[in-house]
Amino acid sequence: EKKRIVDNFGRPHTYLRISLTDRCNLRCFYCMPEDGIQLIDKPNIMSLEEIIELATNFRDLGVDTIRLTGGEPLVRKNFGYLVEELAKLGVTLKITTNGIVLDKYLELFQKIGLKKINLSLDTLDKARSVFITKRDYFDRIMKNLEMALEMDMQVKLNIVLIKGVNDKEINDFIQLTKHKNLTVKFIEFMPFKGNKWDWSKGVGKDEILNTISDRFGEIQELENPKHSTSTNFTIPGHVGNFAIVSTITNPFCSECNRIRVTADGKMKNCLFANSETDLLTPLRKGEKMDDIIMNSIKTKKYSRDGMDVKMDADHYEQNRSMISIGG
Ligand code: GTP
Ligand code: 5AD
Ligand code: SF4
Repeated sequence: EKKRIVDNFGRPHTYLRISLTDRCNLRCFYCMPEDGIQLIDKPNIMSLEEIIELATNFRDLGVDTIRLTGGEPLVRKNFGYLVEELAKLGVTLKITTNGIVLDKYLELFQKIGLKKINLSLDTLDKARSVFITKRDYFDRIMKNLEMALEMDMQVKLNIVLIKGVNDKEINDFIQLTKHKNLTVKFIEFMPFKGNKWDWSKGVGKDEILNTISDRFGEIQELENPKHSTSTNFTIPGHVGNFAIVSTITNPFCSECNRIRVTADGKMKNCLFANSETDLLTPLRKGEKMDDIIMNSIKTKKYSRDGMDVKMDADHYEQNRSMISIGG
């Protein structure tokens, strides 16, 4: 009988998100607290060999998809070596990146069969990009986006919608899908430690759909892959699609299949989980990881780490900041 990572609600967990670093070359205000974060001490960061060993463990327990995240995963030293080794595990590899140094890795991605790239791009306006990210990399990112599309990568743009910042751009992003074969994914603003979340600044799924149908008319619903965190749509006649991640207004936890491991080797059973399971210490002692992983998943709550009805500041302020979770 093959071992599987199943929680107390019968949900098999086959999708792992590994945060490679808590560092980033951008400073997006919804992700990085204004006062910065306490960076993880070097000795507590998983080495590349430790990441590979853990990933192998998870693969042997039935994980078939691994998404690499950060901070910004591409700033991790020797990232190329790591991704080539992970490709040997035979799982579907994906990455979420801000795209600043993506050009350096596209050929390698093509060679090892990594095709799924989610690119954080909250605005199509350069000045607004500088406002959101506090850095001036917009032109580079746009160039790298084009390069990725030319190389037939499956690109999704991640757009965290914030009122008064980029909410007026919803239809500009939809317009992009007319001729470009990509998905634009609108994300409801979520609360994490120190990001001054306030849902009055968020834009919900219904509002997004209304804004789009006011301008484009008919919206066609697409089939949502099982375990999808987004609902998927297209505008008839458009080449690309759009999607909505509605964690706040329409949580999708019933089919959750996700596990996270932070750069310091802590297993997080939910994006909002306040309790974490240390995997790195036992890994370094040479202990067997299977039972530790399988026992940890049994503590997973059904939805949003227990914030079933509403997001509760006493709860999410005890979580990490998004920059050190990786989404
Ligand atoms: P796919 O693997 O293509 O489904 O991508 P994804 O949307 O799951 O991952 P991505 O890294 O692009 O994250 C996009 C947004 O979805 C971010 O805001 C993440 O925090 C959020 N997200 C990813 N996984 C989960 C999840 O399990 N639960 C919730 N609530 N949000 C998630
Ligand atoms: N709410 C929703 N999404 C967020 N992300 C970062 N911070 C937040 C937040 N507060 C998204 C980014 C990135 C992904 C990994 O997480 O858009 O693409
Ligand atoms: Fe899974 Fe937690 Fe996301 Fe819900 S909020 S889908 S339980 S990770």
